[in-house]
Amino acid sequence: MKRLFVTGGTGFIGTRFVSLALEAGYRVRVLTRNERAAERWKHEGVSVVRGDLLTPGPWQEEAAASDEVVHLAQPLTFGARVTHQRAEAYREQRLRMDSLLLDSLKPGTVRRVLYVGGTSYYGDQGTQVVTEDATPRPTGWGPYIAPAIESLPRHLARGLPLVEAYPGSVYGLGSWFVEYALVPLKAGRRLFGLKETLTHQMSPIHVEDCARALLHLLEHGEVGRRYFVVDDQPVTFGDLTRVAAETLGVSYRKIFLPRWLCRLLLGPVVTESLTSEARLSNARLHGTGFQFLYPTIREGVPALVRQWLEASGRS
Ligand SMILES: NC(=O)c1ccc[n+]([C@@H]2O[C@H](COP(=O)([O-])OP(=O)(O)OC[C@H]3O[C@@H](n4cnc5c(N)ncnc54)[C@H](OP(=O)(O)O)[C@@H]3O)[C@@H](O)[C@H]2O)c1
Repeated sequence: MKRLFVTGGTGFIGTRFVSLALEAGYRVRVLTRNERAAERWKHEGVSVVRGDLLTPGPWQEEAAASDEVVHLAQPLTFGARVTHQRAEAYREQRLRMDSLLLDSLKPGTVRRVLYVGGTSYYGDQGTQVVTEDATPRPTGWGPYIAPAIESLPRHLARGLPLVEAYPGSVYGLGSWFVEYALVPLKAGRRLFGLKETLTHQMSPIHVEDCARALLHLLEHGEVGRRYFVVDDQPVTFGDLTRVAAETLGVSYRKIFLPRWLCRLLLGPVVTESLTSEARLSNARLHGTGFQFLYPTIREGVPALVRQWLEASGRS
């Protein structure tokens, strides 16, 4: 049975990923700073490794003794307005977390390392659909994750078998989409949005498909390659919320905020992320044989709405 070490396994995507990895037969070890966050797996055979990626410790030996590593952890991104100063702290932490993990892994011992980045690294690519070979133009969070991503060739050069995965905008239970769209829509409230979100497209993916694609790339991704983890069709944020309103059978009303107010409320980094054009191709992911459960938001959003209604007792 293969030993899989997962960072970020207690997070939004990681929770689903760990369940799928267990079902697929991996012996999973989850790194967390807080054992209570991993309680859900108490009876499922997951080993919980206590440790902080910002501090060297015995967790590094656990990682180094694994056959496979999936790196999903990231510093905190939510809970406050994201100023450039806050994003700078994110950049420093992300660099340190990656370096303490990746430097502890030995080529020849670990069979595969799946590194999870974010498509904000590619930034605003205009209205063309682009592939992983496009030149990155980081926007929003992008400039703050760029130094960590640009350190990866150093690890590849020393023989670490790295595969890179770049999820787009991930929606699912436990995401921003529930709090900012489903809850207000169901309560009959208007949604807040920016005018640009009616025309600027991004590349979404349902969290279930995101977690499935990461597991698939761990097994079938090519070392040294990058993969966008996005569904078949770029859409606007407006499309996403409109399909949710249709599924809920409620009216769809919006209040548009001026950009300066959005910058004031959410900060410049998130405002830039929300308004970047990111029409990304998943041809490379398809080429590995991956099959989507929810190829577009037309399948994914109604499924999420049903799941949310059931889970919250609102159906
Ligand atoms: N969510 C999205 O829409 C999206 C889109 C594109 C890319 N991504 C990427 O996908 C990955 C996962 O995102 P997510 O939204 O699922 O993450 P998340 O919910 O924010 O979870 C963060 C995870 O990181 C762990 N973590 C944070 N600081 C740590 C530290 N110092 N030491 C050890 N663990 C630490 C946390 O573990 P504990 O608190 O248990 O220690 C938690 O499991 C990230 O790399 C993110 O950039 C996400």
